[in-house]
Amino acid sequence: MSTTIILDCDPGIDDALAIAFAAGSPEIELAGLTTVAGNVELAKTTANALAVAAFVGLGSVPVTAGCATPLLRPALHAAHVHGDTGLGGAVLPAPARQPEPGHAIDFIIESAAAAPGEITLVATGPLTNIGLALRREPRLASWVRDFVIMGGSASRGNVSPAAEFNIWADPEAAAIVFAAGWPSGVRMIGLDVTLLARATGAVQDRMRTLGELGSLLLLPALAQYFDSADDSAEPGAEPPVHDVCAIVSIADPSVFSYTPALVQVETQGRLTAGMTVTDFTKSIIPNARVATAIAADRFWDVTLDAYQSVASRMG
Ligand code: RIB
Ligand code: CA
Repeated sequence: MSTTIILDCDPGIDDALAIAFAAGSPEIELAGLTTVAGNVELAKTTANALAVAAFVGLGSVPVTAGCATPLLRPALHAAHVHGDTGLGGAVLPAPARQPEPGHAIDFIIESAAAAPGEITLVATGPLTNIGLALRREPRLASWVRDFVIMGGSASRGNVSPAAEFNIWADPEAAAIVFAAGWPSGVRMIGLDVTLLARATGAVQDRMRTLGELGSLLLLPALAQYFDSADDSAEPGAEPPVHDVCAIVSIADPSVFSYTPALVQVETQGRLTAGMTVTDFTKSIIPNARVATAIAADRFWDVTLDAYQSVASRMG
């Protein structure tokens, strides 16, 4: 029985690899993609979502654009990490279709309202759309089956010593999201585990056997990718595929283990804005399940199997 998800994303190299995983995993049914500004501007994240979806066989999945700027702060992007297009060195056919009319937050709200308890909402970019959707319709938190983010960190940041990019890009939206009262809490897949999900040489060798999926998307995208937390790493040298972790956590829950925590987002700190201040003490009332361990070998077994499935379909 597959899990139906809506993925709110900012493609973005690792977002693109997450979409490719969703296309290949029998455990995932992608009901919609919504886009937000983050790694690159909204027009590019939206065009990339359309192009990647078409390339991996998800051309009928609706793509709906969302917020072009954070709630309060100026938009700051990461083209130095994801390249000017947002897909690193990958050059895909231009999308043949346009995004859906309307706004991402309405797509998310209306989809969840129409299927209460059935949709898992996943966010792999800044939480601007999710925060605004919660302000527009607070019942959204009770309508979804689960809520999963790639974001935050219980330890170190990557954009600053304190903050991970998705939270740092819009801390006010993230604060709304963590305080929204999700029945099962926020399932936070943060840097604590995603920095261990690295596309090693052996993994990239497997990608080389995956036809055009490997040669036109996976490898050229990863070739430029690095994480600011790896301040000495060369681009393409074992890059962490952060966002893929969020979708794999749904496809195979055994890959990650979690610790309940109270997560609060710092929005005022001159040096710590965007920090997910994570309290694991037993006396707290948790609002999140924080991923604290990853079975990395199993992660890549599941991920490469899904990519193989996409590659086989692409012929
Ligand atoms: O910190 C990593 C996260 O920020 C990933 O989602 C990446 O795509 C960027 O959005
Ligand atoms: Ca992302």
